[in-house]
Amino acid sequence: MLLTPEQEKIGRDNFDQVVGQSRRDFIKGAVASAAGMGAVYFGYEELKGDKVKCAFIGTGDEGNVLITQHPDNYMDIVAIADLRPTNQERAFKGDGNEHRIGLVNKLGAERAEKIQVYNNHRELLADKDKLGIEMVVIAVPLNQHAPVAMECLDAGLHVLSEKLMAHNITECKQLIRKAKEKGLLYAVGHQRHYSVLYDNANHLVKEGHLGTIKFIRAQWHRNNSFPGRDSWRKSIPKADEAVVTDEMAKEFGYEDLNQLVNWRLFNSTGGGLMAELGSHQMDAASIFLGKVHPLAVQGYGGKNFYGVPGVGPEDKWDDDREIDDHIYVTFEFPGPTYYKEGTDEVHNERDICIVTYSSMSTNRWEPYGEAVFGSRATLIMKTEKEALLYKEASPNSNGGIDTRLWLVEGKSGGGVMDSYETTAAPTAVDTKVTEVSRGYTEEMEHFCHCIRTNNFKGPKEGGLKCNGTVAMADAIMAITANLAMKHKVRIEFKKEWFDPESDATPEADFADYGKEAHA
Ligand SMILES: NC(=O)c1ccc[n+]([C@@H]2O[C@H](COP(=O)([O-])OP(=O)(O)OC[C@H]3O[C@@H](n4cnc5c(N)ncnc54)[C@H](O)[C@@H]3O)[C@@H](O)[C@H]2O)c1
Repeated sequence: MLLTPEQEKIGRDNFDQVVGQSRRDFIKGAVASAAGMGAVYFGYEELKGDKVKCAFIGTGDEGNVLITQHPDNYMDIVAIADLRPTNQERAFKGDGNEHRIGLVNKLGAERAEKIQVYNNHRELLADKDKLGIEMVVIAVPLNQHAPVAMECLDAGLHVLSEKLMAHNITECKQLIRKAKEKGLLYAVGHQRHYSVLYDNANHLVKEGHLGTIKFIRAQWHRNNSFPGRDSWRKSIPKADEAVVTDEMAKEFGYEDLNQLVNWRLFNSTGGGLMAELGSHQMDAASIFLGKVHPLAVQGYGGKNFYGVPGVGPEDKWDDDREIDDHIYVTFEFPGPTYYKEGTDEVHNERDICIVTYSSMSTNRWEPYGEAVFGSRATLIMKTEKEALLYKEASPNSNGGIDTRLWLVEGKSGGGVMDSYETTAAPTAVDTKVTEVSRGYTEEMEHFCHCIRTNNFKGPKEGGLKCNGTVAMADAIMAITANLAMKHKVRIEFKKEWFDPESDATPEADFADYGKEAHA
């Protein structure tokens, strides 16, 4: 959708206005709270007791974002581990990007100097008692999420891992069971669970301001067609080449150094666009749909650009990546009346909401986000940073992208959205709710708080919002979508896949798919 800067401003003001009006007291309390806005939004407090002693495993691009965002008043970083010398160094010095400032800038040289450095997670774990480590933050390539997390859980450490939870669902189930057996906390960093922006947007959905939602369109579009733009294909720094041999890389789960560096391009180390990018959008879409599990998925994925002579860039005609560079997926979700309330019994099978997801490498028209299309309003989430709200025209009032709106008292009580043909707000918006953190800090704060308060409750009872079971559902969506694209079939999700106690998994169900036909 093409919006002028004025129309975008109207959308942002609409969002602030309606959220501000419908959550006014709550937001005022959150802004004034000593514990911080995130704490009030996500139901925790300032940390009481000692900061949680933490180690970071994997200090590449994302590990460094997390280091920059880590909450210094909840967490005490005592060690880092990384296989690559360049990324060990980056953890301290940063890389000139404001999102990756490094430990020295974050904590000061004196404190940063005391942080121990290890060449891999095993060396770090060997010193865990000496350092008093209680938790780890893991940001290594996808195929190593489960193996590294299992070793950390076995060592008695709480684990906050990056997404996708694991490379397959068998591993997800093993992780949930292991954390339970050891009495440890385990969560995954799908940060939208801790984003104030998303929480406010979801509040509007739950209050019914969007009306009936039948369609969500999500996408992550990039244009990597220009030379030097393919951010997933990296050159190997000389300093890493000098230290990390192919044998060392192999010891830690990669075929060679190239695969360690370019892990996103290979099926055995990554999960393609759906796992890396789509899992975020599907997590967001499912948050708006009440975290219900999807019913079915189908889609198309192809390596349609790289390695295609005459189409892709000439220097990439022999491109060896395995993952698709364009994917288009359609999920069917149950609407609010699909099941009989509080049961698994199908009550209204036509109450379906469709979520489409596309990710491509040749055009970044709408970079990334989700658009939620309701019968009363449209909500647009842009790049995790902005939310825009536009009203549908009704018999009594205008709507559309040029119309300001706000809440008035409805006939049966409660606020309803109204609009006027003016761009001026009736009252000043006193609650600016769109310029807020992306959720990384809050997810780490809550994790530490749950450690100190021994909080093993479920997400709806104030426990970790993206615990193993929630994160596994996100992994099931991504991995099943990959299977649907690979086999070119519509797949119905099975209830038992989502049950940590059951051994059923999508990958096991599709292990022999199509083999008979080829035999
Ligand atoms: N939440 C988000 O928005 C988000 C964004 C980007 C990446 N991620 C996730 O973060 C993870 C890391 O991605 P990245 O972009 O930082 O990758 P990266 O390749 O830049 O960094 C990974 C680092 O892990 C290190 N490593 C690998 N195995 C190790 C081991 N056994 N011990 C110690 N270090 C080890 C590598 O040497 C490398 O420096 C991925 O799972 C990715 O999906 C999440």
